[in-house]
Amino acid sequence: MERTDCMKIVIIHGQNHEGSTCLAARALAEKVGGETREFFLPRDFDRPCRGCYTCFQTELSKCPHYRELEPLASAMLEADLLILDSPVYVYHATGQMMSFLDHFGTWWVVHRPMPEMSRKQAVAISTAAGGGMKSACRDMTDSLEMWGVHKVYKLGFGVQAVKPSEIPAWIQKTIDKKTAALARKIQKNTGKQGYNPRARLWFALMRFAHRHFPPAEPDYGYWEAHGWHGKGRPWKTARE
Ligand SMILES: Cc1cc2nc3c(=O)[nH]c(=O)nc-3n(C[C@H](O)[C@H](O)[C@H](O)COP(=O)(O)O)c2cc1C
Repeated sequence: MERTDCMKIVIIHGQNHEGSTCLAARALAEKVGGETREFFLPRDFDRPCRGCYTCFQTELSKCPHYRELEPLASAMLEADLLILDSPVYVYHATGQMMSFLDHFGTWWVVHRPMPEMSRKQAVAISTAAGGGMKSACRDMTDSLEMWGVHKVYKLGFGVQAVKPSEIPAWIQKTIDKKTAALARKIQKNTGKQGYNPRARLWFALMRFAHRHFPPAEPDYGYWEAHGWHGKGRPWKTARE
């Protein structure tokens, strides 16, 4: 059995419907191969962040929305491959995708780095009628990269359509070709470990800040307990 046969894939759709974006995400997941779980926003999580700071001041599990958030958070932590997808709405990812991502501020490497991110790959996918794929993908890769995900890829498609049946055949072919090429890359990089360069840089900057400026709790204690003020690094302690 190839390693990718047992790859765990989680797709978070930034929309409720099965349109062009959903189809592109599913096309990629099918080509990668593995066990896929899908969540739709807002159907499976519909809460905007309250801005109460409970997660930053205590921990994410104390978030007032944690009961609803937990199935998605746990699935993402268990996954080998994360796919976040969103249609472009006014040049950005959908509001519901952004509201979802707002809940994971503590996962950012500048707060409480998650060792398990170092073994994951992730893809941000967006489709637009014409433009805005780059900024919509960026809305999603900002979180994926700052969570420390090992490899983060972007796929944007200008589909010249508002629904899948309208996508011109040549664009459909491009979607097939690009998802196939990315699936091969993902399969090749499976099992590799390490934070991406952006996360490593921010880890180094925060480590310097922790050592030279008054520490912020509970972040400081979390880093200390993991040994990251010394020689330990989150990408070296990830579970097998
Ligand atoms: C509210 C709204 C805003 C949109 N904004 C843009 C935009 O800024 N640029 C663009 O090219 N298409 C825009 N579109 C079109 C969609 O991004 C495009 O049709 C996309 O492929 C739809 O994906 P879906 O089939 O997964 O819903 C917008 C559509 C909606 C409903």
